[in-house]
Amino acid sequence: MRRGVSIWAAASFAAVTVTALAVGGLPAAAQTTVADGDQPMIERGKLAYAHSCSHCHGPNMINAGTVTPDLRTFPDDKTRFVGTVKDGKNNKMPPWRETLSDNDIDDLWAYVSSRRKK
Ligand code: HEC
Repeated sequence: MRRGVSIWAAASFAAVTVTALAVGGLPAAAQTTVADGDQPMIERGKLAYAHSCSHCHGPNMINAGTVTPDLRTFPDDKTRFVGTVKDGKNNKMPPWRETLSDNDIDDLWAYVSSRRKK
């Protein structure tokens, strides 16, 4: 019986090791595809947002959603985001093409994505 117990212990130890390796491997793989979780980008985006967007879209993106859309509910659609930010929309959302670089807009997207309501 003792022998049986130690085999179980060894088996479960092996399972834990495999699980830990699998979990440990995830963040590196995720980084290449997902912008959120990239803290420096989010921090830069937060500053750019406070500077260029917050007076219309609300501090920290909190607003009534009546005049400007609540960006926390903007869909996970980076192409649409970049297009609107560069070109503006309906003469109400101003264009930023001349003011913000592609990197600035990437940072803004990271920040907006980090605040998305699930
Ligand atoms: C002068 C006020 C103003 C500023 C500044 C402003 N926005 Fe907007 N934004 C608007 C308005 C108004 C709309 C709604 C336009 C519409 O749907 O007709 C809008 C819409 C949007 C949308 C949704 C567009 C869509 O495709 O549905 C996004 C995304 C957005 N703004 C991002 C930003 C970002 C990022 C910044 C800062 C770089 C910013 N806005 C600065 C007024 C502003």
